Amino acid sequence: MGSLAARWQAAMMNNYGTPPLALVRGHGAEVWDEDGRRYLDLLGGIAVNALGHAHPAVVEAVSRQIATLGHTSNLYITEPPLALAERLLELLGRPGRVLFCNSGAEANEAAFKMARRTGRPNIIAAEEAFHGRTMGALALTGQQSKRTPFEPLTPGVSHVPYGDVAALAAAVDADTAAVFLEPIMGEAGAVTPPEGYLRAAREITAARGALLVLDEVQTGIGRTGAWFAHQRAGVQPDVVTLAKGLGGGLPIGACVGFGAAAELLEPGQHGTTFGGNPVCAAAALAVLDTIAAEGLLEHVALLGKGITTGVEELGHPLVRGVDGAGLLIAILLTEPVAAAVMEQAREVGILINNAVPDRVRLAPPLVLTEAQAREFLAALPGILDGATP
Ligand SMILES: Cc1ncc(COP(=O)(O)O)c(C=O)c1O
Repeated sequence: MGSLAARWQAAMMNNYGTPPLALVRGHGAEVWDEDGRRYLDLLGGIAVNALGHAHPAVVEAVSRQIATLGHTSNLYITEPPLALAERLLELLGRPGRVLFCNSGAEANEAAFKMARRTGRPNIIAAEEAFHGRTMGALALTGQQSKRTPFEPLTPGVSHVPYGDVAALAAAVDADTAAVFLEPIMGEAGAVTPPEGYLRAAREITAARGALLVLDEVQTGIGRTGAWFAHQRAGVQPDVVTLAKGLGGGLPIGACVGFGAAAELLEPGQHGTTFGGNPVCAAAALAVLDTIAAEGLLEHVALLGKGITTGVEELGHPLVRGVDGAGLLIAILLTEPVAAAVMEQAREVGILINNAVPDRVRLAPPLVLTEAQAREFLAALPGILDGATP
């Protein structure tokens, strides 16, 4: 055990267990551990480090802003979060209103409160969906193992099978305040719904006067090769929640409302001390600028296709398919050995994630290079052989 792991065990709460690796620095899609060993980072801080590690645009924006005005609270206007809200609305393509917070769970908490403000009692979300671990977000989360230890949860939320239009249509009625959905279920292992599912969800919610809240915490900010995954699906939600890639490694989340949904929260009904902090907002602006300037959406779409095709063409007996979009990719396994695949990959210097027992997830920095993608594909057969039971 390395020296940092020993200190971790002594001082940190045990909710994460002790991580197997202590990282000390990063550059692009590479990180180095405390012994100086280099890893290819195909997880990017769980779909967070959109520009990779130590990107000069983020370093410059954060350094400049912290040296100018680091924090004021929301009792005062500062320019960076305002510019960021304007930019997000421009990218989302519609007028709306933005509330900043510090994480994905908080973005969904805000959306949950907006749903309550409709006056309707019920919320529908998807089985196996992940929306965060605070008590409201956990009530939305459809993974029983995460819910059970903390029951009773916030009432009024029920879950339907993801991707099942008939089940959704049967569940949504005049008492439904909102339907919460991920465009692709990230923590469930990059699960893509059947074609047309999000459009059907839009039609069903619109017909019954319920809000459609799309949780783009994991799929937003270029991850799937579009600015936002719902744009690929051609739907217009009432609310979009964002975090992860938005700050490129700094903690910032956003809840964006459109139309009547944008007006649901009134003065005094919600707030956060740090939300929209100018330093995090400056980082987010640098992320958005760089994605646009470097053509990263096209890069993500192309590289994602290349990796997907490369994995499929291996024809390895442990692989039964590939799921996801852009650089949110799941390798589907014929056996529940995702943890072994993750460990084998780490052994050869590649970081990936065992999202669920039979799905390995990749969510690398959007700046991953073609050469790095090839490095992964070249190593994959050996990794899979090593994990084969
Ligand atoms: C879709 C989705 N929503 C919400 C969250 C929670 O975000 P956070 O961990 O920043 O609270 C996550 C995190 O994995 C997520 O993937």
